[in-house]
Amino acid sequence: MRNLCRIGIAAGLALSVSVVALNAFASEPTVPPEPATFPAEGKISYVPRDSILEFKALPQYHEPDWVTEKYVKTGKLPPVQERLPKEPLVFKTANMPDGIGVYGDTMRHVIGGRPEGWNYGAGQTQGWGGIDIGLSECLTRTAPLFQVEAKDTEPLPNLAKSWDWSADGHKLTMHLVEGAKWSDGVAFNADDVMFYWDDEVVDPNVSPLNGATQETFGVGTTLKKIDDYTVEWTFKEAFPKQYLYAMAYGTFCPGPAHILKPQHPKYSKNTYDQFKNAFPPEYMNMPVMGAWVPVEYRADDIIVLRRNPYYWKVDEKGNQLPYLNELQYKLSTWADRDVQAVAGSADFSNLEQPENFVASLKRAAEANAPARLAFGPRLIGYNLRLNFSANGWGNPDERSQAVRELNRNEDFRKGVTMALDRKALGDSLVKGPFTAIYPGGLSSGTSFYDRKSTVYYPFDIEGAKAELAKAGLKDTDGDGIVNFPAGTAGGKNVEIVMLVNNDYTTDKSLAEGVVAQMEKLGLRVVLNGLNGTQRDASQYSGRFDWLIRRNDQELTSVVQNTEQLAPVGPKTSWNHRAPESGEVDLMPFEKDLVDIVNKFVSTQDNDQRASLMRDFQKISTEHVYNVGLTEYPGALIVNKRFSNIPQGTPIFMFNWAEDSIVRERVFVAADKQAKYELFPQELPGKPGDKGPM
Ligand code: GLA
Ligand code: CA
Repeated sequence: MRNLCRIGIAAGLALSVSVVALNAFASEPTVPPEPATFPAEGKISYVPRDSILEFKALPQYHEPDWVTEKYVKTGKLPPVQERLPKEPLVFKTANMPDGIGVYGDTMRHVIGGRPEGWNYGAGQTQGWGGIDIGLSECLTRTAPLFQVEAKDTEPLPNLAKSWDWSADGHKLTMHLVEGAKWSDGVAFNADDVMFYWDDEVVDPNVSPLNGATQETFGVGTTLKKIDDYTVEWTFKEAFPKQYLYAMAYGTFCPGPAHILKPQHPKYSKNTYDQFKNAFPPEYMNMPVMGAWVPVEYRADDIIVLRRNPYYWKVDEKGNQLPYLNELQYKLSTWADRDVQAVAGSADFSNLEQPENFVASLKRAAEANAPARLAFGPRLIGYNLRLNFSANGWGNPDERSQAVRELNRNEDFRKGVTMALDRKALGDSLVKGPFTAIYPGGLSSGTSFYDRKSTVYYPFDIEGAKAELAKAGLKDTDGDGIVNFPAGTAGGKNVEIVMLVNNDYTTDKSLAEGVVAQMEKLGLRVVLNGLNGTQRDASQYSGRFDWLIRRNDQELTSVVQNTEQLAPVGPKTSWNHRAPESGEVDLMPFEKDLVDIVNKFVSTQDNDQRASLMRDFQKISTEHVYNVGLTEYPGALIVNKRFSNIPQGTPIFMFNWAEDSIVRERVFVAADKQAKYELFPQELPGKPGDKGPM
C-alpha cells in the first residue's frame, strides 16, 4: 500500500490537528471491501474445448419438411446437401444440454435500441439485443468459452475452420469453411474476408460497428489472400494468439462483399456517407452468414428474421440448423424487455438493470412463472471515464480543453474518486446483496481479478476537496463550485459535460447520482443524455468531458477486446484516442499500461499473464485510469419452453448471452411449441426485395 502523504496535504489546508489525523486515517488508499457473496445459480459443467463442435461431412442431411415441400420440390431452392458446405460445422450432441432438437417456433426478443441500417461493417447498429449477433458470423467464436476449462481456453473455429502458425510464429494461415454460402446462395470465400479487412478495417474512412481498426489485431499486422479458402496473417510479434479473440464477434465478422463492394467509394461514385447508408432498415433480405435473415421491419414496432436456408451448421444427425424458424425483435425499451420476459409475452432478457431486480425475482419465484431466471457472477459494472486527450480529439472548446487538463491531473482524479459514495450509488439502484464497491479497473468477476492489487480510495469528501485544492481549484466567488485558476477558461466555475446513454434507466440513475455527489465536492456536472446511437457517435468522435460507460469485455474477460484496456492504438481506448491527425498524448502511467497490454498479448505463459494483469490492475486503479462506480451480477431470463440453454450461462463474459446460449442449437420441444411465428413456412427473399420469398 502506498503512503499518499495525506497529512501533508491536509496540514497545508490549516485544519485542526485532530481532523488532520482523522483524515489521514480515512483517506488512506486500501483494497476494496470484500463484497457480499452472491453465489451464481446454476453450476456450469466445464468441458474440454474440442467437445463442442467439429467440421465434417455427414452421410445425409435434413431440413424442415415444409422447406423441402414448398421450396426444394418446386425448384426454388437446391436440395439441402447442395446448400451446405462440403464439411459443415457440426455441433456435438454430447455438449447439447437437451440433445438433438426439433424444428419450429420463434424466440421473441425485445430491444431498446433502433436499427440504423444493415451496414454493420460501416458502423451501423441494428439495435443491439443480439440482433446483429444472429446475423453475423465471425472467423472465430468465443461466447461459448464460458464453459470451457480455463487451461483449454482458445477461441473456437467458426468461419475459419482451422489455422496453423508458422515455425517462427509471425504468420498465421487460416483455412475458411469451404463451400459455405451467404443466405442468398452466393459463395462465401476469402474475397469477403479481404473486403472486410482492406475496405472496412484498414480504410481510415470506415469504422465497423464495434470499432475494429488495424491495431485491434496488432500494430503493423497485415492480411492477405492465398486462395479462395485460405488467408494469411502476418504479425510483428511471434505467436500473438491473443488476436484469435479479436477475430470473434464483434471485430471480425465480414459482410457480403458481393453486395457491399459495389457501394464502396473505392469501387463506385458514392461518398463514404452514401456507402454507410446504402442499406437502410427498410432494405430487406440483407445477405448474412448468420442463422436468420431480416425479412420484415416496421418502425418502432418490430423486426422479424426468418431461417437462413443456406446456413452452414448442422447437428450430428445432419439436421440443418437453426431449429428455430424465426426470431422476433419488438422495438420497445430495455426495461420493457425484463417486464415482458418475466411475464411471458417475450422470451428472453439479460436482467442487467438492478431497478428491475426485485419485481422480476418476485414474478420468477411464482409456481406458474413462464420464465426461468438465474443469476450469474458479478460481471456487470459501470465506470466513469474521463477524456484524457489534450491534443484535440473531438475539437474541444476552451472550457472543455481546460477540463481535459484537469482530467489529466492525478490529484483531480483522486479528488473525484474519493468524493464518490459507491455504497450509496449501489443502494440507489437496488438494496440487498447485489451491488458491490467497485473502484475501477478489472471486474471482480473475471479470473484475472486480484483484490490485493486493487487500489481503492475510500469515500472521504474532505480528503477529496483537499485533492482538488492541490490540483489548483478554489471557489473564488463563493458559490459552492470551484473555479478554474485565473487565466484558465476565464477563471469561471468548473463545469463538466457528462455523456450518458438515455436508453437505460441504470445509466441515467448512476449519472444523476454522480451529478449530486460531485456537487457536494464543488464540481458542476451537466448531463448530455443521448440515445444509444447518438451517444456512441459522440463517444467515438471524442465529444465528451466525462462519460458513463457500462463495462465491456476487456474488463469482464480480459482476453476478449484486450486492446481496449489501454490506448495501444490511436483508436482502441474508450476515453483516450488520437485526433484526426496526430498521436495519442499518453501520460506516463498510460505508457506503462500500454506496455503491459502489449506484453500480455505476446506471452503464452499463464503465470506471467496473471502477473501482468495484477500489475495492470495496480497501476490502473492507483492512477485512476477509470473511475469505477458499481458492479453487480446479472440474471438470464429465458422462457421455460426452450431447450438446450446451458446451465449457468452468464449474461455477459466473452460476449452477451444471446451468443453464449448458441441460439442456432436452441429448440422448443414439439409439445411445447407455440404459434408465435409471424411468417410461418416462409423463407427470406432476394436481397433488397420486400419481405420473404
Ligand atoms: C444491449 C443489451 C445487452 C445485450 C446486448 C447484445 O447492449 O443491453 O443486454 O442484449 O445489447 O448486443
Ligand atoms: Ca465558484
